[in-house]
Amino acid sequence: MNNASEPIWLLKPNIHYLNHGSFGATPIAVLNYQQSLRERMEREPVRFLTRELEGLLDEARSQLADFIGADADELAFIPNATVGVNTVLRSLAFKPDDEILITNCTYNACRNAAEFVAHSTGAKIIVASVPFPLESSQQVVTAILEKVSPKTKLALLDHVTSPTASIFPIETLVKELACRGIDTLVDGAHGPGFVSLDLRSLDVTYYTGNCHKWLCAPKGAAFLYVRRDKQASIRPLAISHGANSLRTDRSRFRLEFDWTGTDDPTAYLCVPEAIRVMGSLLPGGWSSLRERNRKLILAARQVLCKTLEVAIPCPDEMLGSMASIPLGTVPLSWESLQSKLLEEFKIEVPIVPLSDRSCLIRISAQFYNRLDQYQYLAEVLKRLIS
Ligand SMILES: Cc1ncc(COP(=O)(O)O)c(C=O)c1O
Repeated sequence: MNNASEPIWLLKPNIHYLNHGSFGATPIAVLNYQQSLRERMEREPVRFLTRELEGLLDEARSQLADFIGADADELAFIPNATVGVNTVLRSLAFKPDDEILITNCTYNACRNAAEFVAHSTGAKIIVASVPFPLESSQQVVTAILEKVSPKTKLALLDHVTSPTASIFPIETLVKELACRGIDTLVDGAHGPGFVSLDLRSLDVTYYTGNCHKWLCAPKGAAFLYVRRDKQASIRPLAISHGANSLRTDRSRFRLEFDWTGTDDPTAYLCVPEAIRVMGSLLPGGWSSLRERNRKLILAARQVLCKTLEVAIPCPDEMLGSMASIPLGTVPLSWESLQSKLLEEFKIEVPIVPLSDRSCLIRISAQFYNRLDQYQYLAEVLKRLIS
């Protein structure tokens, strides 16, 4: 349990920070631990990077594996989910007319990666249109399965969508797609710490997740899970020493991903500390923290929808620690609205533009947030847009 009088985060106290979802925020205790690792590295760089790092990565990976219900042998540390998605897409050998299935909610950077690969291989991008507002998660399943064809080779699906902040029914989707012979790459940028993960029972082909968002590890900590049977074909974006290593004590997958050139590995090594620190904020550990944040987001969404007279846009069951609320067409550009909220009202919150000139607002809830911050946001928004 933390001592309530000590600040846990470095976040500026005069800003209502309602955007944990974009880049996370790291507790001071975890940053201090990272600094101690950096000092250890800088005192003896060669010893740290060539003799100690491998064992330290093994230990960190094994603790992450326990947290997400995976085997450590199926995990590689990578700097972020964008790299995870690129790594899989760019490793796979698509042929002309193969189809890569994505959705209208796919994160822009990942859609770009899919389009890049499609362009260079002749594969086609097929976009399933998931409605929002949504009445049930079955609508997500229907919208995606409707777009499957005999040419579908891979589905790239979000676990938690960035613009609409809804949890996709990924267990059902992975199963239904596997029955049709289709591999799934889950973009779980928001997954770890946001939902309770058990990758073993999910039995997905590929899953990439950020540790720097909801696990609150330092920035640049993420993982790529590749099911054992697919590891031979997945190569890191940077080919390095592992490619021709003669070692037989570790898999090629491990040798290649553990060294992709000189870098600062301390964010990866802090993952266990982030799991420990965040898991000790409440007596009930991680499940209590998730439940607390979810309750807060449900209450906050209620306040915003009521004040702005907007219908609740998706079922409670599809929410974790974020929610998006449609604002309709607003009287100023989304960029102006977002910067006005920050500069004039000290509220950091993302406004998401939609193609029809209307927009959404996405709120996040983390341990440092309180309900009155969303009440204030609702009042300010009412003044600015109605
Ligand atoms: C769904 C989704 N995918 C991918 C990303 C990219 O994450 P990163 O910038 O850490 O690679 C984000 C970031 O917010 C996201 O929301």
